[in-house]
Amino acid sequence: MDNQDEYLFNFRGYNFLRSIVSMNIVENMDDQEIRDDDVFIVTYPKSGTVWTQQILSLIYFDGHRNNTENIQIAERAPFFEYKSPNVDFAKMPSPRIFCTHLPYYLVPKVFKNKKVKILYIYRNPKDVLTSYFHYSNLVILFEASNSVETFMQAFLDGRVLGSNWFDHIRGWYEHRNDFNIMFLSYEDMKKDLRGSVLKICSFLEKELSKEDMEAVVRQATFQNMKSDPRANYDDIKKEIGTRNNEGTFLRKGTIGDWKHHLTVDQNERFDRIFNRNMKNIPLKFIWDMNE
Ligand code: A3P
Repeated sequence: MDNQDEYLFNFRGYNFLRSIVSMNIVENMDDQEIRDDDVFIVTYPKSGTVWTQQILSLIYFDGHRNNTENIQIAERAPFFEYKSPNVDFAKMPSPRIFCTHLPYYLVPKVFKNKKVKILYIYRNPKDVLTSYFHYSNLVILFEASNSVETFMQAFLDGRVLGSNWFDHIRGWYEHRNDFNIMFLSYEDMKKDLRGSVLKICSFLEKELSKEDMEAVVRQATFQNMKSDPRANYDDIKKEIGTRNNEGTFLRKGTIGDWKHHLTVDQNERFDRIFNRNMKNIPLKFIWDMNE
């Protein structure tokens, strides 16, 4: 992976994807219109963004929950920093749902008034790395790498969209008191989807009937999302282009796939770096489906 400059650009220490980021938003972050009831999903890439977009849009939009509308989740909960030709942020009805990979120090300053709700979804970084490796090799907007080793070096050095995983999560966690933020892990969502949807609803101060809750949980499972054209990103896949037809955005959707990809040596190296970087961060990480 020697061609980062072709794919990435760095702005204030953070790597953005050159082809799809709106420079206007990035450079004028504090001028963006933010409403008090906006909700932001914040993730490092490959940590469950699409899944959370689906959950939040199912919670908020009846038409999505009841299948009466046919709008992609990418348009219901658009990326804040991307060029979104199909979405006019100003015309979105409140409460607006956005997602973003921004680090804590690049979001609009108005977030510190603690009105905007932020849901930070994190995932064990070995599965993030594994998911990211496959995704970068699939999607032509990203630089492909010929081996897990090459990708792991780039990931650990932060030479990828999202920069360094440790900086991203540490930054948001250490500044959590500046924001109205809830942390939730991908693994918690995977192991207890209903419980996680309940936690999310409680954070959003949104009460759902039992039936609506059932509908959210049912439509947010991996299998159901994979077969739902509004949620599986198949259309977006065609739009942005992939290196092969077989790969899918919703790939395995599980915990612990890293075990099939990292060697013993890579795993031990990763553990050493993880332990050094995550000292004093009491977030819980789950590395295996059976944990
Ligand atoms: P895998 O590549 O490990 O399968 P993001 O949306 O941040 O890019 O994250 C993508 C990862 O989330 C992919 O992981 C994808 O399969 C997984 N994912 C998406 N929807 C999911 C769901 N309903 N349940 C579990 N995992 C899901």
